[in-house]
Amino acid sequence: MTITFIGHGYVGLVTACVFADFGNKVWVIGHTPEKINRLKNGDPIIYEPGLKELLLKNLNAKRIHFTSEYTTPIGESDVVFIAVGTPPKKNGEADLSTVFAVAEKVSQNLEKKITIVSCKSTVPVGTNARIEKILNKLKPKKTHVAVASCPEFLREGTAIYDSLNPDRVVIGSDSDRAKNILMQLHKPIDGKRVITDLASAELIKYTSNAMLATKISFANLISFYCEKTGADVEKVLDAVGLDKRIGRIFMDPGVGYGGSCFPKDVKALIKIGQALNLDTTLLDAVERVNAIAKENFARKIIDVMKGEKNLAIWGLSFKPNTDDIREAPSLFVLNRLLEQKFSLSVYDPAATSNINNLFGSKLIYFDDPYEAVKNSSALVVLTEWNEFKQADLRKIKSLLKKPIVFDGRNIYDPALMKGLGFSYYSIGRQPTR
Ligand code: UDX
Repeated sequence: MTITFIGHGYVGLVTACVFADFGNKVWVIGHTPEKINRLKNGDPIIYEPGLKELLLKNLNAKRIHFTSEYTTPIGESDVVFIAVGTPPKKNGEADLSTVFAVAEKVSQNLEKKITIVSCKSTVPVGTNARIEKILNKLKPKKTHVAVASCPEFLREGTAIYDSLNPDRVVIGSDSDRAKNILMQLHKPIDGKRVITDLASAELIKYTSNAMLATKISFANLISFYCEKTGADVEKVLDAVGLDKRIGRIFMDPGVGYGGSCFPKDVKALIKIGQALNLDTTLLDAVERVNAIAKENFARKIIDVMKGEKNLAIWGLSFKPNTDDIREAPSLFVLNRLLEQKFSLSVYDPAATSNINNLFGSKLIYFDDPYEAVKNSSALVVLTEWNEFKQADLRKIKSLLKKPIVFDGRNIYDPALMKGLGFSYYSIGRQPTR
């Protein structure tokens, strides 16, 4: 098949490369000439393990093409995926202006007798129906469109694996033709098929992200109980998670969830609920607990480090294996500590330059994690990159001015830390001193 992706972010570019790898001819439309040139030259722009290799392989095979033009790609495509951003507006609603703008451009360039237009962007219920209206209003005579919603569930850091091995492939449409063609296109991809109507497909994506965010906030809430009562949150959640009805996955307590999806999608679902006159208390609480998780962790550091103002910070991205810092808990914690006049020596395997663009000379940047620790009074871990998990703790102790570690992701064992002589503060567990 010939396919077009509009948008080359995590979802657009990764799925475009995956479909090209299956042998399809894939167009990717962007709107920034500089980025299109980089993509044409094999630079994926975003940091995602394995993506550069997959991109180069399919560029060399001439299966993937990048352009800012709509005419040829849309004219010859069987399926067009809209995969542009839906960032939150100031009030939390999803901003759909780009989705509708590209839908107009698609409709003006349709040439085939039938084209399937499928939205991969996360959009509120009813958006695909509005896209359909736009397409039908502006399309040339003798062309037909069928609209579908195919939400994407990939995670940053494991995006290629996730797109090839999803738990489910959701195809929502009111058109049998669209469902059949999309079923055919997704044939090489694993996972159960969920064939449904447009509105359900749209709500499935928000529901999944809100449920995952709820699990995380619930784990964080229980960590607050543990800190006050002397219980150990990891033991509590391990035992609770053994109940198959609950499960342990996505209940890792920490310094809060971030990224381009959970914060935005929980907010958007609240807005959708408010517009429907629903009580959104549960989702409001998910957001509130996430804010408290970040605040509690920063407060812990500020309270302990009286008079000691030099800190080493390990991990700045919102999660490991990405350079993405959108809504990263690190942004909140760094700002909170800077307000308190801490001097911060930061290290991250991938996200330093993105943080530098935001914070500039307010932080001291290091390429070596141990150099950042040298002469600091404590180490703060904000992201659980693998390279931190088995770091040389004895070396850290010898480099720190005081043997203090704040672990925002519970990657170290409290007994081991105590044995090594650290004052160790983690999430939902008693400090060891
Ligand atoms: C998420 C969804 O998982 C994915 O299905 C969807 O398509 C996009 O949004 P992503 O944002 O890439 O993916 O990362 P994810 O692994 O879900 O982590 C999101 C945030 O939650 C991170 O900040 C992470 O540190 C935090 N998290 C995750 C926890 O704090 N505890 C957990 O148990 C799991």
